Amino acid sequence: MNVITVEDLSFKYRRAERYSLRDVSFTVKEGELLGIIGPSGSGKSTLCLTLNGVIPNSIRGEFKGDVIIRDPRTGEEFNTKETPVARLSTVVGLVLQNPESQLFNMTVEEEIAFGLENLGLERNEILRRLRWALEVTGLKGLEKEFPPNLSGGQQQRLAIAAILAMGPSVLVLDEPTSQLDPVGRKEVLGLVSLLNREHGMTVVLVEHHTDYILRYADRVMVMTDGSIVMEGKPEEIAEEAEELRRLGIKLPAVLEVSHELRKRELLDRVVLTPEELLSTLKCPSR
Ligand SMILES: Nc1ncnc2c1ncn2[C@@H]1O[C@H](COP(=O)(O)OP(=O)(O)OP(=O)(O)O)[C@@H](O)[C@H]1O
Ligand SMILES: [Mg+2]
Repeated sequence: MNVITVEDLSFKYRRAERYSLRDVSFTVKEGELLGIIGPSGSGKSTLCLTLNGVIPNSIRGEFKGDVIIRDPRTGEEFNTKETPVARLSTVVGLVLQNPESQLFNMTVEEEIAFGLENLGLERNEILRRLRWALEVTGLKGLEKEFPPNLSGGQQQRLAIAAILAMGPSVLVLDEPTSQLDPVGRKEVLGLVSLLNREHGMTVVLVEHHTDYILRYADRVMVMTDGSIVMEGKPEEIAEEAEELRRLGIKLPAVLEVSHELRKRELLDRVVLTPEELLSTLKCPSR
């Protein structure tokens, strides 16, 4: 079942001269992890904003085409241009780059419960969701903390917890680790992977750490200049090293190394992880 269907989508910001999205079409299946990569200014963030309806409902401009969201739990379908963002946010949660900009409450638990009170849920349901969100994001024990005192990784996990508590089936993350140190990045990407694999969440992840995308995504889309220029399984995208470099996308070291080794016939295929590289590397015969 397709949870997201984007059809012939083009978007130009008000007063902008050029379109930021051009004729974009793709689908995302239930439970899939779609990775999106592309150089700066290629339209990745703009695309994310169309998936929860912020574009065109709050940020206006010239919008053509359709974004259809299907709630896998109820089967209901929403065309984003006809649905309020508040309604869409119970199906699609959007996580942004900077965790601080998404946090504004005095304690961790208030931050998570904040949106729930606005949904008009009963007290028991609020508590149940609060407990689950704390548990799954590993923030249990930090309920009373002041969010700015948390580490970057914890803050971003809190932003995710607050979104998860709203009960979405789809999580869209726009470079959620770009402000984090390597420890924070690992925490957040580990959580994203857990949510996808263990909790069946459908995930759209924009991440410029291509190594993670190649390792965990079911499918990868490459954007440039507002268009999708490549789409395929991580193994297929990894074959296109030349093209990716040409587009200005930095390749993970393991990919550079494995392409080089294959050229020298020390490897018969391109591998995506250091572990795989070590185990497939042909040992020189003694
Ligand atoms: N609010 C805005 N008003 C006008 N133009 C905008 C606005 N936001 C983005 N753009 C333009 O739209 C294009 C796509 O920008 P977008 O932020 O979606 O790219 P991106 O792929 O997310 O880049 P980055 O990797 O730097 O985050 C760029 O040319 C950008 O200048
Ligand atoms: Mg961006």
